[in-house]
Amino acid sequence: MRIFWADIRGRMAESMKESEHQMLFRREEIAARVAEIGAQISHDFAGESVLLVGVLKGAAVFLADLARSISVETTFDFVAISSYKGVKTTGAVRLIKDLDTPIGGRNVILVEDILDTGLTLVFLRKLLLQHKPKTLKIATCLDKPARRLEKIDADYVAFSIPNHFVVGYGMDYQERFRNLPDICILSSDEAM
Ligand code: IMP
Repeated sequence: MRIFWADIRGRMAESMKESEHQMLFRREEIAARVAEIGAQISHDFAGESVLLVGVLKGAAVFLADLARSISVETTFDFVAISSYKGVKTTGAVRLIKDLDTPIGGRNVILVEDILDTGLTLVFLRKLLLQHKPKTLKIATCLDKPARRLEKIDADYVAFSIPNHFVVGYGMDYQERFRNLPDICILSSDEAM
């Protein structure tokens, strides 16, 4: 399924009145896309097992849903990095929590909430490749290609979006709104 930016602008206009944030993707369409990606991963790794490595905290919700839509043997681990302060990136990426699991020789899928400038995933990809996984793929819930500073693409993308700051479905603004079940554009009142 492909979502075009013109559709997204239409949805934004429609949802202006619905809440303080503008709705971008409802929980039902997120669930449908996550199920499609889970089926794709199950197909790509048929007969094998995968290790999902989630990037805390934003990817936790996406990983939880994705893991349950994959039918091959799946385990998971988490890493944590620090990079964002509010709506602007600091540009510096630092590892706060390392892997608990050895990943050498395994099929690893790095699971991220948003691929934005690419700084985080370039840093993590380099780090994980040092452990010599059998394969390393990237799954992201959202992709913001317009903001890319590094050359990196995800193998599995739920939705590609224009340059908006979004919250919900695990994604935050100053640690808030991660628990919103839908993906929304941050209200301008909050981004002061
Ligand atoms: P990157 O290193 O610029 O690709 O940024 C990746 C990280 O920035 C994501 O994992 C998010 O934590 C954060 N981020 C980027 N855009 C947004 C957004 O719109 N809302 C919430 N967090 C964001």
